[in-house]
Amino acid sequence: MIKQAIIPLAGLGTRLLPLTSVIQKELLPINGKPNLEYIMEECIEAGIKEFIFVIPKDRPAIKKYFFNDSFYKRIIKKKKKDKRLKKIFKKIKIYQKMIKFVYQNKPEGTGDAVLKCKKYLKGSHFLMLLADDLIIKKNCSKEMISLHRKTKGSIIATKKVERKTVSRWGILGFAKKTKNSFLINEVIEKPKLNEAPSNYAIIGRYILPRKILSVLKDQKKGQGGEIHITDSIKTLIKRNEKFYGNIFKGKYLDSGTLEGYIESNLKISKLK
Ligand code: G1P
Repeated sequence: MIKQAIIPLAGLGTRLLPLTSVIQKELLPINGKPNLEYIMEECIEAGIKEFIFVIPKDRPAIKKYFFNDSFYKRIIKKKKKDKRLKKIFKKIKIYQKMIKFVYQNKPEGTGDAVLKCKKYLKGSHFLMLLADDLIIKKNCSKEMISLHRKTKGSIIATKKVERKTVSRWGILGFAKKTKNSFLINEVIEKPKLNEAPSNYAIIGRYILPRKILSVLKDQKKGQGGEIHITDSIKTLIKRNEKFYGNIFKGKYLDSGTLEGYIESNLKISKLK
């Protein structure tokens, strides 16, 4: 059973400046709700019971968003009849029970973020989500958990991207595929066009085995001086660990760029 989800939240959000000079990107509202809450809702619907948020100590905004009881209590006291306020606070209290914080003071990569969660990770596998990558219309985490149950392996969300854009993504290789999945035999972080084994890109959802921690412990920094989860996945695949690509059915929205953020707002506002 997959019950824990890691969400790395230490990115600087430079692609969303100047907005991110005052608001952390995961708190930017999309159609009236922070980006991060969409990700959490997807997880909760898929059966996740605990979130591990990886944040920098000097950016307490996310902590404050979920843990500001005295603020709520003060206004609820003033506006005793406001049912909406009570409802919001109730929802926040539910989230509070599910969240743990872990600190990553420099954005040193997704691998480093996962390693920092070591003391909290319990089961054989856990989910990891990149908050910039919204997937709407169909619950991607749910699909992945169901593929994990079937295969007992690790799972990466993937979709076909335009060939010319492969160097923007982690790219997966495989020998054969069915309509919705494939067994991964190669993974490369941001390859050159002629090095890409396919044009199936990693989109920010991973079901990873706990044993990845022992690989991460000794992993050297990769592209851009960061510790990429992709590199430890590569090591595990070489050691014959089974990783499957889940070609998800939902629609992918990249809310980490200004263009994508605007598109996310438009698309989500049209959802029923
Ligand atoms: C990260 C991952 C990459 C993946 C991408 C999806 O890259 O390292 O493998 O394809 O997310 O959004 P980033 O967007 O942080 O450059």
